[in-house]
Order: sequence, then structure tokens, then C-alpha cells
Amino acid sequence: MRLGKFKDYSDFGNGIELRYEMGKANIYYISDEIVRFEIPWQMDDYISVAVEGDKFVPCEYECRESKDGVNISGKKMNIKVGEDFSVEITDKAGKVIVCDYKGNRMIPETISEKSMKQLTEEGHDASAFVRSEYKVQDLKRIDKEDLFYGLGDKTGYLNKREYYFENWNSDIPSAHTEALPALYKSIPFFICKKKTSVYGLFYDNTYHGYFDFGKENGDYFVYGADDGNLNYYFLYGEKMSDVIRNYTFLTGRTPLPQLWTLGYHQCRWGYESASDIREVAYGMRKYRIPCESVQYDIDYMDNFKVFTWDEEYYEKKGKLMEELSHEGFKPVVIIDPGTKKEAGYFMYDEGIKNGYFATDADGVVYVNKVWPGDATFPDFGRKEVRDWWADSHKNLTDMGVMAVWNDMNEPASFEGPLPDDVVFHIGDRKTDHREVHNVYAHFMDMATFNGMKKLTGKRPLVITRACYAGTQKYAAVWTGDNQSLWAHLQMLIPQLCSLGISGYALAGTDIGGFGANSNSELMCRWIEAAVFSPFFRNHSAKGTRAQEPWKFNDETTDIYRKYVELRYKFLPYIYDLFYRGQETGLPIMRPLVLHYEDDENTFNLNDEFLVGENILVSPVVTQGASKKMVYLPEGTWYDYWTGEKHTGKTYIIKDAPLGVCPIYIKEGSIIPMYDQVQYVGEKPYNKLTLLLTPGAGKYVHYQDNGEDYKFIDGEYNLYEFSKDEAGNISTEMLHEGYEGYEEIATENISH
Ligand code: GLC
Repeated sequence: MRLGKFKDYSDFGNGIELRYEMGKANIYYISDEIVRFEIPWQMDDYISVAVEGDKFVPCEYECRESKDGVNISGKKMNIKVGEDFSVEITDKAGKVIVCDYKGNRMIPETISEKSMKQLTEEGHDASAFVRSEYKVQDLKRIDKEDLFYGLGDKTGYLNKREYYFENWNSDIPSAHTEALPALYKSIPFFICKKKTSVYGLFYDNTYHGYFDFGKENGDYFVYGADDGNLNYYFLYGEKMSDVIRNYTFLTGRTPLPQLWTLGYHQCRWGYESASDIREVAYGMRKYRIPCESVQYDIDYMDNFKVFTWDEEYYEKKGKLMEELSHEGFKPVVIIDPGTKKEAGYFMYDEGIKNGYFATDADGVVYVNKVWPGDATFPDFGRKEVRDWWADSHKNLTDMGVMAVWNDMNEPASFEGPLPDDVVFHIGDRKTDHREVHNVYAHFMDMATFNGMKKLTGKRPLVITRACYAGTQKYAAVWTGDNQSLWAHLQMLIPQLCSLGISGYALAGTDIGGFGANSNSELMCRWIEAAVFSPFFRNHSAKGTRAQEPWKFNDETTDIYRKYVELRYKFLPYIYDLFYRGQETGLPIMRPLVLHYEDDENTFNLNDEFLVGENILVSPVVTQGASKKMVYLPEGTWYDYWTGEKHTGKTYIIKDAPLGVCPIYIKEGSIIPMYDQVQYVGEKPYNKLTLLLTPGAGKYVHYQDNGEDYKFIDGEYNLYEFSKDEAGNISTEMLHEGYEGYEEIATENISH
């Protein structure tokens, strides 16, 4: 689709409308650093799902007509718009940051019919080889050195250069390999790191989307979508962290979680009765492995009917939860959107009576199969449907449920995908499955978050499998059905780092792997690598080898315990990162390139990560390995285990037999730590220990009740610890509104 020659433009206050021979386009100046570009191919006044509320920040820009368009000069950048809405963005010195690719796509010849037939005969997906122009399309020029980061949960590596991806939330039970174009989540945001600059683009369009980062051709990247508007935000930044700040300013930031949710969680699909759950819960306490929840997978429901409870296998409603709560276990249950089609079942009856389910084009309630057999799909884009779903959580909170895990919300369906024309809504606007698919989970998570917040008054933990850009405001994520494969252990680093820089600070993988059979070495290496995973849960599938650590051997149990204990020690550091992330949008697990942007050794570093800025983790993720090549960036680093000092900007080889995960702490660090407990709340955290590395430093520590929203009314403490070269610590209270610690102790790194 083309707009053709430029005619004229008008300024509407915080942006301009440009009129062309064959249509119009808009540019919105959101802030000095965020500009939105739109061609309303499908609809005027599109309301974003990801960006909520008015984000306009007063800013100044000047607009001048040129011979084929307009030139806009703003505080941080200049924008030149030409014929056919071609865009060029330069910095204030005139250097191009990004510009449209003016030529046509060079789509490789599609393969012959004969080859296609052969491929199909052997079971290859030949459609993957067919490429064509997209209905909505944007091409931007790229340079040889450009690197691409972000896009959420995509498989493969940190740097997406020369890879192709799609955004279409997909339930993939087979092994997740780097060849997969799409997984469960659609986050159409990425950062392009150029040789001497950086920028971000967020293509806010919920239809099936396509990204080709120079695979088709090394001169341009391609963004495509099946329908909707061309609607993208340019995000300026001097550093990658500025781009993330701007992106999360728009789409929202991960809210401060409850402290216990950052502890350890045990799960399995296949705890088929109350006694299975009990055995695991008491096992955690017996083997002294700290644990917050043994999560309830679909086995707990009566015939997989959501918001019900199976009293035959799971005993009287509420009994088990009540019993285990005395041992510190917090009940977390799974909920799926698919609502069983069964007259007499209250959710189905209420949904039918009120017209809450999606319908086919003729208005007949749409049915597909999921766990409960024939199931209907709530039309979550409508507020009244979300309110109904939110209130239905009372069935759970009345039993004592404290957190909800939303699954199968791509939405997954067992009898083929939902047809394109299934009718859904976004607000009052009627639309179809094509537009709603990628935001279905987003709306469901919103409902769950609001319901749990209202019913409990606490900060909700909603764990979701599918999501869109912006869902981070409502839900934590896990990466779905991975497998007990070394390749999946390796992938957790780029995958969680990519989710992190795409706004999802609270993310995790199924520790030990969900599908396939784990083994003792893999379990140990997984818990070592996952020790700083923001969401920290071991989960496995029915029929696979059991994954509770003591089901392997004593050595595995001991190593597992050592790392879960380490996690509990570092809880206040992790919590502080969440606190700070609310201002910066920066995640917990970070790729090294985020803080060492000029160091090319970090550009493609897929096997280590930073936790905040002070801790570097370089886990062993290779079968049989007992040494690890670790890259330490600029600065001085101290080995967490031995206290050994290393000067950075070099590779070192670290002895790392089973049970040793290489961890380094930066010079001048002050790391807050808590004493060991079996679960958060076992005893009050009234002692804080500061782990110190040599060198002067400063650190701000946040403390509150770890549960509710009283911090908004000032019920929290903010400590600023300063340390001089000699190691003397002084404390300044930046805010005092909560009962403080009884003791603040220090510990030096060199043991
Ligand atoms: C899906 C989920 C998995 C869950 C299972 C049964 O496969 O991804 O985590 O255990 O469904 O509910």
C-alpha cells in the first residue's frame, strides 16, 4: 500500500497530520524522546491496548514544509518526512539514526512447485519458504554493524540479527529451537544497537506480525503485519537503558511484587491428589529446601472446570490449603480461559446468560476443545466480561488462594486454531480473532490482576504464559513448555534477558525442564543458572521423571538446597531491583551489553548475565563441563566464593565442578542480605547484613511490609548506605515510615 505524493499538513498541537495523494498519516510527539508514526490504513483513532492513559509530556518541536514533505526539529532529534511517508531521523548533529529503506524488498525466489511437493511429502512445512509483501509493511535501512535485541521470549540468542520471527501467540509443546518463529508471547519491541548510537522501535499492532532482521537482505529489516495500521513508536536513547526507560514509560513497568513471590516455588502437572501435594510440601520442609508454594496445576479442578475444586481427590475445599498455610505454604492455582460447555456449571451458565463468550460470525457461541472437552472462550476485551471474571476469583480467595497462574491463554485450542472470524471485542468495538489473538491473554491477565487486587488487597502475583506488550503491568511470565534439555538450560539466559529488556522484569523458566526427563547433573546446573531468575519455579510434566530434588540423590539435594538458600540470602537485593525498576524499567537479569555497551565482547554474550549492576553470573550450562570461561567486563570483580580479585576486560577460566556456579561481585558493592528462613514470613526479617567488596560505594536499600500497598502512603524505609575506601559504612535515612531493622551487620567478601 502506498500514500504517494505529499499534499499538505496541519499541526494539531502535539503532532501533525500529513495529507498525501492517496491517504493520510500522523506523527505524534509524545515526549522529546518518543515519537509515534501512524498510517491509519485500517482505522482512525486507534486506541492502543499496550499503552494506557495519556502519555503526552509537554515538549517543543518546530515544523517546516519541505518540497516533498515536512522537516520537524525537536529537542533531541530531527525528523524528515518525505513522499510516501518515508521517514529519516537524525540526531542534532545531523547524523542519521534510522531511516526508511527506499528500494523494494528483494524477496528471494520462492521454490518451485516440484520442490514444494517433495518437501511436503516428507513432512516439511513448505509454507515457511513462501514470502511475500505484507499488507502493513515497514522497511528500514540497516548497517553492517547493527545488532538487534528484545522481542521478548523468542528462541535463539540475544542478538537477533539475521533471524526471522513472527508474533502470533503459539502453544508449542514440542522442543523450542532457534528455528521457531513464534512462541507464546508477542512483544513487538526491539532495540537496535548501532556502531555509535542506539534506538528502539515499538510496532504497536496486535495482528499477526513479522520481523526479519536482515535475513532476507543485509541492507534492511522488514516489519510486517496482516492488518491494522502502521503504528510504531520511535524511542530515542543515548544508551540502551534510555530506550528501555522510554519503552516502559509507554507500556508500563513491572509493579513491585510481594516479597514471598520472589522465593522458591515447586510444581508439577500430575500432583493428582491432596496427598501428592502434601508429600511434596512436607518433603520441602524435611529436606530443608526453602519453599513458598507447591502450586496446584489443573489436577485440582473438578473435571477441569475453572473456579471449581475436586473434592474427590483433593479433599474438602480449603482443607489442604489451610493445613499447609500453617507450614508457610501460599496457595497458587492454575486457571485456563477455556470454560467447560456444560449446562448447570455456574461459569458456563452465567457466561451464556450474559452473552460473555466469543461467538462465530453468525452470533452462535464458539466452541473448541481444551482440557475440559468442549469449551467456550470469554470475550475478555469487554470490561463487563473482565469484571465478571475478576469477581469469579472469589471462589478461589474464599479457599485461601493467594496467587493465580493463567495458562493456555494464547488461546490454545485442541481442535485446530480458532477461525479468523470468531467475534471478539476490544472495549465496545466489535472485531475478530485476527486482531484479538495476541492480546487475548493481556485482557485475561488484566481481569485476574484486578480481581485478586480487589479481593485480597495485596499486590497480585499473576503468572501468565501468553502476553502482549504492556502485560508486564499485570503479570509475571514463564517461558512455557520447555524441556529437560541442555539446549534449553542454555537458552534461559538469552530468553530471560530478552524478556527483561522487553519490559518483563518478573520472568522465569521451568527449572529442570517441563517436558522430557531430567537428570541429576542437569537439575544441579539448572538450579545454579536459575538462582537469580526473577520467577523461581521448578515445574515438570505428567509422565516425565519426577523433579523434586530429593528424587535424584543426596548430592543433588545438597546442591539444590545450597542454591535455593543462596537465593533467599539475596532476596533483599532482588527486591531492591524491583523497587528501582519502577522508575527505570530496568530488569533484574540483564545482558552484559546493557551496561557495557562499548565493549564488543558483550555484544553476543549468551552464557552469562548481570543481576542489577553489581553481580555477574556465569553458570555452567554444558553437560560434563567442570570449568567455565568467564568474561569479566571493565572494572574489578571479586569471586563470590573465594574472594579472589580479578581485573576485568578479560576472560578467565574458573574451576566450576558440579555445585559451583561462578558468581562475581563488583568492586565497591554493598549487597543487602537476609538470614536463612524456610519461607518468607517464618520469622521477621529484623537483621540486614551488608556484603561488602573493597572500594568506595553507595547503595540505596528499600524496605516495606512486602505485601500490600501501604508503601503508597509512605509506609516504607529508604536507606542510603555509603562506604569509604577504608570500608567505613554510614547510613542516611532517605525516607522513614516503617519499622526498621534491629541490626544492620556487615560482612566482607574475602573470607
Ligand atoms: C500447559 C502448561 C503447563 C501445565 C499444563 C497443564 O502445558 O504450559 O505448565 O502444566 O498445561 O496444565
